[in-house]
Amino acid sequence: MQTTHVSSSILGNEIIKPVYSEHGTMLIKKGTVINNDVLSKLLSHNVDVVYVMNALKNNIKEEGILSEREMNKSVASIKKVFDDVMYQEKLGIKSVIPNENLKLVEEVLALLIETLEQADQILYTVVDLLQTDEYTYKHNVNVAILSILTARALAYKKEDIKHIALGALLHDIGKMKISPILINKPSSLTVEERIEVEKHAQFGYEITETVPQIPFLSKQIIRLHHEKLDGSGYPLGLKGIEIPEYVKIVTVCDMYDAMTTNRIYRSKMPIYKALEHLMTESVFKIDPKIYRILTSNICMFPPGSGVVLSDGRIGVVTQFRHASPSRPSVKVLNLQGQKNYLEVEDVNLELNRTLFIKDTWDIDLFNQISKNAMD
Ligand SMILES: [Fe+2]
Repeated sequence: MQTTHVSSSILGNEIIKPVYSEHGTMLIKKGTVINNDVLSKLLSHNVDVVYVMNALKNNIKEEGILSEREMNKSVASIKKVFDDVMYQEKLGIKSVIPNENLKLVEEVLALLIETLEQADQILYTVVDLLQTDEYTYKHNVNVAILSILTARALAYKKEDIKHIALGALLHDIGKMKISPILINKPSSLTVEERIEVEKHAQFGYEITETVPQIPFLSKQIIRLHHEKLDGSGYPLGLKGIEIPEYVKIVTVCDMYDAMTTNRIYRSKMPIYKALEHLMTESVFKIDPKIYRILTSNICMFPPGSGVVLSDGRIGVVTQFRHASPSRPSVKVLNLQGQKNYLEVEDVNLELNRTLFIKDTWDIDLFNQISKNAMD
């Protein structure tokens, strides 16, 4: 099973998990073979990703914390809340969050907290975000999930975790007051454009400032989530202990999620690279303790990911163990040209200490090549 981007390249594949609309009604049944009609339906409902049968990942269990349906519903609620702000901005009226939208946010919050309470500490995958239009909404839900896990591991009280999650869910709401052309710009921003985009933190604070149902702690997260320990952040350029710990949690989760996600201007980084990058790039900028907690809760090589071993052989991860995050079990493959492969052996890296993972490879790319070769 694999998730794959909805495009004409998935024609002929079998859907193996039902697809729901943004309102939670079923669009495509499990077992449906994708033909042109099915594809048009998926595209017209802006479905980004579907699960299809993939022989390479057969019998490998990929786990997500939220079901696809729960994730879609949560993202649809956040989209409604955010889009209403954008609409008010277009009309030139002061942005507010009406009570009915606060209720939607409250429902998403309750779902995330309840689901994560029952979940294992390890985060296998956060939903992969391919459609950049939807990026801001999904990113906010992902950051809320990561922040709940991190705050919980730091032994925060339930009430505080809820307020941190609320801040994370709304942290980029201020982006709705900034031109989408700038937010989705594929090339790098000019200095003026960057200054404009950076205003989103303060804008977000202004939108929520007068809402009594949103606690101060959550409003601080919205305002300060781009502050950095060395004072290089914005909007206030706060330093070190001037930044509350609950804000730093959301900052680290925000940076991590942004790095591991496909964006219009670059494709996503493998998780282990994003984590290395986050640490080296941010030595003086982010809190190392929070970074450590986040990394211990993320599966670096999720089952189903392609890896390259130190002896040059390639394989697919079959099992991840929390105790040895860099030493999963791997099904070693022998690629026969660009479209076939043989399974050579199963290697448990926890037992085989002469090998290690030196890189990752993109299974989806292999599937794309082999499909093209067969066409
Ligand atoms: Fe932001």
